[in-house]
Amino acid sequence: MKSLQILMAMLIISATSVFAADDAPRERLLMDFGWQFHLGDAPDAGAQFDYPEFARLDKNRPDDDAQEARNTPLRVDAAAVNLGKNVSFVQPDFDSASWRTLDLPHDWAVELPFDRHGDKDHGFKPIGANFPTNSIGWYRRTFELPAGDKGRALWIEFDGVYRNCLVWLNGVCLGRNVSGYGSFFYDISRTANFGGTNTLVVRVDASRFEGWFYEGAGIYRHVWLVKTGATHVAHWGTFVTTAVTNQDAEISAETTLRNDSESPVNAKIISEIVDADGKKVAQGESDSIALGKNSEQMLAQKINVANAKLWSLENPQLYKMISRVEVDGKLSDLYETPFGIRTIKWDVNQGFLLNDKHVFIKGTANHQDAAGVGIAVPDALNVWRLEQLKKIGDNAYRTAHGPATPELLDACDRLGILVFTEQRRLGHTLQSFGDLENLLRRDRNHPSIIAWGIANEEMSAQGKDEAAQTLAVPNQNLIHRLDPTRPATFAMNWDWGNGFSKVMDVQGFNYWFQSTHSKNRGHFLDMDEFHKAFPNTPGFGSEEASTVSTRGIYENDKTRGYLSAYDRNLPRGGDAQREWGSTAEAWMNYYAARPWLAGAFVWTGFDYRGEPTPYSWPCISSHFGILDTCGFPKDNFYFYQAWWTDEPVLHILPHWNWPGREGQEIEVWVHSNFEAVELFLNGQSLGKKDMPRLSHLEWRVKYEPGKLEARGYKNGKVAATTFVETTGASAKLVLTTDRKSINADGEDVAVINVSAVDAQGREVPTANNFVRFEITGAKIIGVGNGDPSCHEADKGSERSLFNGFAQVIVQSTKNSGMINLAAKSDGLQSAALTLPVKAVKLRAASQ
Ligand code: GAL
Repeated sequence: MKSLQILMAMLIISATSVFAADDAPRERLLMDFGWQFHLGDAPDAGAQFDYPEFARLDKNRPDDDAQEARNTPLRVDAAAVNLGKNVSFVQPDFDSASWRTLDLPHDWAVELPFDRHGDKDHGFKPIGANFPTNSIGWYRRTFELPAGDKGRALWIEFDGVYRNCLVWLNGVCLGRNVSGYGSFFYDISRTANFGGTNTLVVRVDASRFEGWFYEGAGIYRHVWLVKTGATHVAHWGTFVTTAVTNQDAEISAETTLRNDSESPVNAKIISEIVDADGKKVAQGESDSIALGKNSEQMLAQKINVANAKLWSLENPQLYKMISRVEVDGKLSDLYETPFGIRTIKWDVNQGFLLNDKHVFIKGTANHQDAAGVGIAVPDALNVWRLEQLKKIGDNAYRTAHGPATPELLDACDRLGILVFTEQRRLGHTLQSFGDLENLLRRDRNHPSIIAWGIANEEMSAQGKDEAAQTLAVPNQNLIHRLDPTRPATFAMNWDWGNGFSKVMDVQGFNYWFQSTHSKNRGHFLDMDEFHKAFPNTPGFGSEEASTVSTRGIYENDKTRGYLSAYDRNLPRGGDAQREWGSTAEAWMNYYAARPWLAGAFVWTGFDYRGEPTPYSWPCISSHFGILDTCGFPKDNFYFYQAWWTDEPVLHILPHWNWPGREGQEIEVWVHSNFEAVELFLNGQSLGKKDMPRLSHLEWRVKYEPGKLEARGYKNGKVAATTFVETTGASAKLVLTTDRKSINADGEDVAVINVSAVDAQGREVPTANNFVRFEITGAKIIGVGNGDPSCHEADKGSERSLFNGFAQVIVQSTKNSGMINLAAKSDGLQSAALTLPVKAVKLRAASQ
């Protein structure tokens, strides 16, 4: 029975040090290493495996929308607990020695070849309903549990599995999780084999899609084994909110205390607040409460922190609440909740305020896949990607279109990046509400999160009042109930003012350009009309731009699937082939003229697999990114950097290698934030131009090989120069790494780029040489080059350069030493790179 008891905590501030680490009775063990994997066969299971009952299960419990609409909860029922009883490979004694061994995170879709019959929006991989032989994956791994764990609370937690998975422990079905984006967990205290070996089996069914973009397949995020005392902080059991007055902060902590033991207990919580340096700054202690067996209670505490250091973009100060659970004076759990102290406000006229200061949201929306690895992105690579975005001046991240991996949110907390996160699918079933609740309970302590999205572009529902009541309001209410501190929003393309618009806390606008159609269409408001008609609803661009461009390309080429990198190309779609996006320049100017708009999220920061709009095969990746799939900047990177940062920016496009175009006019652009720019070709001035704000400069230049130079003026004087230069042919490869060393933990990665230079050492911007990599001391987990039409394998150790660059993602093993990486290409001088791998303390892992 769940009851609620609010206890005001006694405030104690003491100078004693924080709890000793060896007090900690909670263990959180990584389960990523040592899995075995086998691709299943859906239509003819018997041919490979003895499991006709799965076909029945899938038939009886489909996870499609029709089923959801009938409000049928998707749960494993009593009968399903026996599910797999007759299936040998679900059983502990199954011999899976012949299965492939791998470590998580894993995406098997990215390992498949490209196939023109695959789904375009999912990146032309042979996976999904039409490819049943590729769409079911089985994972097995064993782990040991000491006899002493009996009586403790134990669960296995999955950060994300794409998708529709069934999980067994020791032959017993623990449950089923449908959505490929959320975290979920299973209590194993009653199924575990204490003092022996345990066998965990996961069947992953990726035969249905959830989105219209590359979604991958497999256990693509971390898996954890959590152990703690039987009386403990419940799973995702804390919620910390903060109120700031002058220098001080009042911390409100709600902690759900759970007793999984078979007898009643007297328990209390002592909550320490620790600052970023690990110094205790405050403490609150609850009264002792009687907790019945198998029950939980929420305890509310208020703790004051004097001279609070606020979490901000410039100085993302984090605190930790360490909750010590004591049963009859003995420590039973020690649970950490990182949080930040800050205020947020969405204002209808001023936009967004952080700590009462206006912040223009300079955001990017991003899908989760990356070159080489698909959706199985190691934590270090996620951090690296965020760092690339920060270089543009990006201060906000939209986790399109679903819950992010928790480590990405941790990184945003640490790096000072605002986050707009959203659920994957809007619904009004137990399942969809459950998914939303999980998202909030898991993520609501992150200071970086500033809004919850109920959905993205629900075309058939968003404009209807009835759907607003049956879908938007219940989802928003759930958000309010679980988190009264942040607004709910909806990313809406047109229909503004109708349906969902009338009920949401904050209006998300997908594409201001839709405004230009509203006058003709008549049935929805444009953004200015909306602002007048809804004087209490703040607004922001939940998606903007969708400008399409290919790195290093300066002419559209439909056959090869490339788009020029001038800020010019818009996507087209729908029956009328209407445009919806806009150039970077157009949306930035539109928003600059409307201070009531809180800012916007550019669609997208990085190119992603799938949605090769406006093209199709052979194009397999999107073109929307400011950076390509590898994180190599396209030219618009410098436009955003010029207007989103205070750094001096001076960038010329295109490159200056145009053999055969001598005497012809080439369109030259400069992205800059200097007050004026002068262009020179081989020393001859081509004119000085004033730099208009939020714009670029253009010259038409008759091509002659040589040096094209730009000089940036500040206070009337030349303050910076840059140039592009005609190069010779590729002569030599060059390897560069983002890191000076990596950690020998089997998880860390180095992002290593390869380029080609000519005989004089100048980067060749058009080089397309085929490169082979050889490595010792680490492993290559993926290669890429950002070419949206390249069908070379992501896995392997070879890749062509695309317009000068390719990338190899190198991951450490648990052995320290030295990585030796060589890059070789026929006819070119090879490159070699060494990178130390340092011994580190490993994260606690389950064996
Ligand atoms: C939006 C949609 C995104 C993506 C984008 C491409 O309408 O929300 O997921 O498809 O278009 O421009």
